[in-house]
Amino acid sequence: MKDLLVAHRLFKSYNQSGNSVQAVKDVSFKIQKGQCLGVVGESGSGKSTLGRLLLALEQPDSGEVWLKDKEIFQLKERELREARRDFQVVFQNPTASLNQRLPVWRSVMEPLNNFPEVCPPFLSDVRHSPRDTAAKLLEMVGLKAAHMDRCPHQLSGGQRQRVAIARGISLLPELLVCDEPTSSLDVSVQAQILDLLKRLQTELGMSYLFISHDIAAVGMMSDRILVMKEGQIVDEFMSNQIMSKDRHEYTRQLVAVVS
Ligand SMILES: Nc1ncnc2c1ncn2[C@@H]1O[C@H](COP(=O)(O)OP(=O)(O)OP(=O)(O)O)[C@@H](O)[C@H]1O
Ligand SMILES: [Mg+2]
Repeated sequence: MKDLLVAHRLFKSYNQSGNSVQAVKDVSFKIQKGQCLGVVGESGSGKSTLGRLLLALEQPDSGEVWLKDKEIFQLKERELREARRDFQVVFQNPTASLNQRLPVWRSVMEPLNNFPEVCPPFLSDVRHSPRDTAAKLLEMVGLKAAHMDRCPHQLSGGQRQRVAIARGISLLPELLVCDEPTSSLDVSVQAQILDLLKRLQTELGMSYLFISHDIAAVGMMSDRILVMKEGQIVDEFMSNQIMSKDRHEYTRQLVAVVS
């Protein structure tokens, strides 16, 4: 299978009141086209930092990320803006990532408004009309046309995350980074959102970087799993090997907590 993304020897440190904290230490991996790569680890292990690096929201201290044939940290601002259509994100907290004052259909349309020339196949018959386009995207994530004129506070947490997902898929990105997409939600809706993400990934052929501290969720979503601890990858395996005796001690601890 073809590699969509190659991360090579990424290092990222932060200055915290005079001390240097190594958030990501020498991390390398690949994501194949159409694959979901899971990243699991305890709080502070560097998962979100890694996600932000892949999205070029931060610069590494050193290391490279190749998306298709481009090294993203070498891109000029204009090239990076162009490349952004290929990588989108769904964050943990949809309330923070949606504009509270905009009706949700306008939030859904933001990425497409930034890329007027982009028209994914599933939008081909509605792209001429912004409202019809938003309605179609909302329908794809299980919302109704009646939701489109509401503001985020008039929706449930699960519905708000569906709006964020609609926006995340709107450009048909090659890579969708999902950073704890269900951690802010009621347990009862977490499974529905995971099912939705999985279905969209398969139907649309996107690759995911799926970040969670919940190894059960990561196991359900991912083809391959990286386990992070203190900024490093301590274990790496295909998800069907999650119970194998070869697993790192730390992976076993994560599994033991949920089983
Ligand atoms: N902007 C920042 N400034 C300073 N330190 C940071 C910054 N972002 C992250 N860190 C530090 O980097 C380390 C890794 O943080 P990160 O947010 O990547 O962890 P995480 O695995 O996503 O944790 P969580 O599961 O709680 O989301 C932590 O020690 C954190 O305090
Ligand atoms: Mg995080």
